[in-house]
Amino acid sequence: SSVLRSVKTLAKPAGARGYSSESVPDRKVAVLGAAGGIGQPLALLMKLNPLVSRLALYDIANTPGVAADVGHINTRSEVAGYMGNDQLGQALEDSDVVIIPAGVPRKPGMTRDDLFNINAGIVKDLCSAIAKYCPNAIVNMISNPVNSTVPIAAEVFKKAGTYNEKKLFGVTTLDVVRAKTFYAGKANVNVAEVNVPVVGGHAGITILPLFSQATPKANLADEDIKALTKRTQDGGTEVVEAKAGKGSATLSMAYAGAIFADACLKGLNGVPDVVECSFVQSTVTELPFFASKGLNGVPDVVECSFVQSTVTELPFFASKVRLGKNGVEEVLGLGPLSDFEQEGLEKLKPELKASIEKGVKFANA
Ligand code: NAI
Repeated sequence: SSVLRSVKTLAKPAGARGYSSESVPDRKVAVLGAAGGIGQPLALLMKLNPLVSRLALYDIANTPGVAADVGHINTRSEVAGYMGNDQLGQALEDSDVVIIPAGVPRKPGMTRDDLFNINAGIVKDLCSAIAKYCPNAIVNMISNPVNSTVPIAAEVFKKAGTYNEKKLFGVTTLDVVRAKTFYAGKANVNVAEVNVPVVGGHAGITILPLFSQATPKANLADEDIKALTKRTQDGGTEVVEAKAGKGSATLSMAYAGAIFADACLKGLNGVPDVVECSFVQSTVTELPFFASKGLNGVPDVVECSFVQSTVTELPFFASKVRLGKNGVEEVLGLGPLSDFEQEGLEKLKPELKASIEKGVKFANA
C-alpha cells in the first residue's frame, strides 16, 4: 500500500497541495472593535493569515480608514469595513469566526473587574447581534473581564436559543504567550520550543501557569517558579503601568489573538491535534493519573477508581482544549499539579466563581 500511496502522490499535479484555492476553504472572520488598540494590529495579522478569505472590520468609529489601509495589503482576504450599529448585521453575516476586542481597556490602578460596567453592556449587545446574524460562528472573546464576559455571552446565546458551548472561547492566549517568554528567559532555553499550559481564568490570581509541566524541562528553584507565576499573573498590569494611562496590552494581545483565531480556523478546516489553552465551558473533571482513552487507545473505557484527582465545580474554566471542526473537540484535563499549583488552584476558585456569577447575573438582569 505504501507503493500505491507514492504512486498517487506522484500522480498529483504540482501545486495541488498547500494553499491552492481548492484545498483552503473560504472562511470569513469578523473583528468587532477593529479600530481599537488591539483591533488594528489584530486586523493586520488576520489579513496576513492565508486561511482567511473575507475579513470584516467592525467598530462604532474609524473602521473605513482601517479597512482601506489593511485592504491594500496583497494577501488572500477581501477586507470590508463596517461602522455603527446599522452595519453590524452585514459585518457578522456568514462569519465563521468572530473576534471581540471591543470595549475599554484598563488604566493604572484598575483591575479588569473595574471594566465590567462598561464592557458587560457592549459584549451583551454584540452577542445579541451574533445570535441573530451568525449563530453558528465561533466566538473569541477578548474583552475584559473575560472571567465575566464569557458567561455573559453564554447567557445571551442561551436566551436566543443559539448557545453552543463548543463555540464560545475566552481568549487567554496572552497569558500563555507571557508564561512562555518569562520561562524561556529564566530557564535559558529556546523560547520557540517552550510550552507552558496556563489554566484557571484571566485575571490576577485566577491566571494559573503550570510551570511544573513546562517543556523543555528545567530545574528551576521554587522561588523562581513563584516569581514566574507572579509575573505571569501581573503581566497585564506590568504593561498598563509602563503605558502610564495610554491603555493596556495591545500589540502582544493582537499577536495572541491572531494565534488563537488561527488555531480555531485550523480546527474548523480539519487540521488534527490543534491544542490551545482557552477559557471555556468546562467541568474539568480531571484524573491526572488516568488516561482518558486507556493505554491502547480504546475509546470510552470508563471505570471508577480512587486516584489523585482535581474536580473543579466551576462552569467555566481555562485549560488545554483540542480544537476541531465544531470548535471544542475535547477539554483536556489539568494533568498532575505541583503542591504550589494545587494551592493556587484552590485559591483562585472563589474569585473565579464570583466573576462568573457576576456575569450570569448581569446577563439575566
Ligand atoms: P481600545 O479602547 O483601544 O479599543 C477598543 C475599541 O472598541 C475602540 O475602537 C472602540 O471604538 C470599540 N468599541 C467600543 N464600543 C464598541 C461597540 N459597542 N461595538 C464595537 N466596538 C466598540 O481598547 P483595547 O486596548 O483595544 O482593548 C480592548 C479590550 O480588550 C479591553 O476590554 C481590554 O481590557 C481587553 N484586553 C484583553 C486582553 C486579554 O488577554 N483577553 C488583553 C488586553 C486587553
